[in-house]
Amino acid sequence: MASLTIPSDLLPADGRFGCGPSKVRPEQVEHLVSASRTILGTSHRQAPIRDLVGRVRTGLGELFQIPEGYEVVMGNGGSTAFWDAAAFALIERRSAHLSFGEFGSKFAKAAAAPHLESPHVVSAPGGSFAELDDINGADVFAYPHNETSTGVMAPVRRFDDSNVLTVVDATSAAGGIQFDANQADVYYFAPQKNFASDGGLWFALFSPAAIERVERIAASGRYIPEFLSLKNAIDNSRLNQTLNTPALSTLLLLENQIDWINGNGGLAWADARTRESSSVLYDWAAASDVATPFVSNPEHRSQVVVTVDFDDAIDASAIAKTLRANGVVDTDPYRKLGRNQLRVATFVAIEPDDVRKLASSIDYVIANSH
Ligand SMILES: Cc1ncc(COP(=O)(O)O)c(C=O)c1O
Repeated sequence: MASLTIPSDLLPADGRFGCGPSKVRPEQVEHLVSASRTILGTSHRQAPIRDLVGRVRTGLGELFQIPEGYEVVMGNGGSTAFWDAAAFALIERRSAHLSFGEFGSKFAKAAAAPHLESPHVVSAPGGSFAELDDINGADVFAYPHNETSTGVMAPVRRFDDSNVLTVVDATSAAGGIQFDANQADVYYFAPQKNFASDGGLWFALFSPAAIERVERIAASGRYIPEFLSLKNAIDNSRLNQTLNTPALSTLLLLENQIDWINGNGGLAWADARTRESSSVLYDWAAASDVATPFVSNPEHRSQVVVTVDFDDAIDASAIAKTLRANGVVDTDPYRKLGRNQLRVATFVAIEPDDVRKLASSIDYVIANSH
């Protein structure tokens, strides 16, 4: 069967709506090309790359308005590597986790390491938010700022106890959602989402208390693999370096995106833009007879990852397939969620007008598929 052709005037100018890797702006690629003979293919131990790393670290500090004493730390391996690093180098005895989707639960699993007490995990079903009842003796309190698998957004709020570090997974939130950096001890992310770059690196804002914790555990004699040593990452980051070779293209794409956001008004501007884009889809779902936002509590509906459920009479996977055949890609739900759903990234690189076009394209597909 020939698939439906969506009229070109309804189609978004850019059809990338995936939750990561996500849309890269053409200007970022131009920046990469302009560095292709001077920066790409040169040593990461020499001044040009170390200056690039320095600009990225300074730019992130400015974007997040980091408080006095906070440091921008980085390492290789993406957010998944950070979970293992935290298990070895940040959690002292025990961690507490909010688990309301795939990524929150993965950190809890990584923290179930033999040298630690078993983590305290508070779980909630997909689409809802979990609240911490009691810290239960934990010294790290961990949760995602934005749960990418479900589209649930959490407030960044510190657990008020000086022995507890608040450690926030901001992989899909960072750069697209306003928050107060004082409210986290570690705010970590990888750059393939709002930063519209590629995967493979992690970045984190560390508070003085988090740095002190890392230094204390490193000095304690605990076995820590070198690649997962956060002391190593802090020491190298202070020199604008990483332990082993970083992806230079990723750094260049990231540099351009940070400059673009800062140049447009910083995190407040990015936040307003992702709110606008996501509201288009939530309002569209509210007005639709066949679609409903998956996250029932409006306060927890993500402004960067929108999840919309469809009535049984509509096959969401067929919509995603038709969209893909028309160049509008990656609107499928998170693979393990198994819902009749579309999931759409409204990251800062994505034009709000393209989100409006996406809604029109979905309406067209529904009206014309039988
Ligand atoms: C909230 C969240 N945490 C962690 C990860 C894992 O990131 P990485 O692929 O950089 O390891 C992802 C990836 O989608 C994510 O969305």
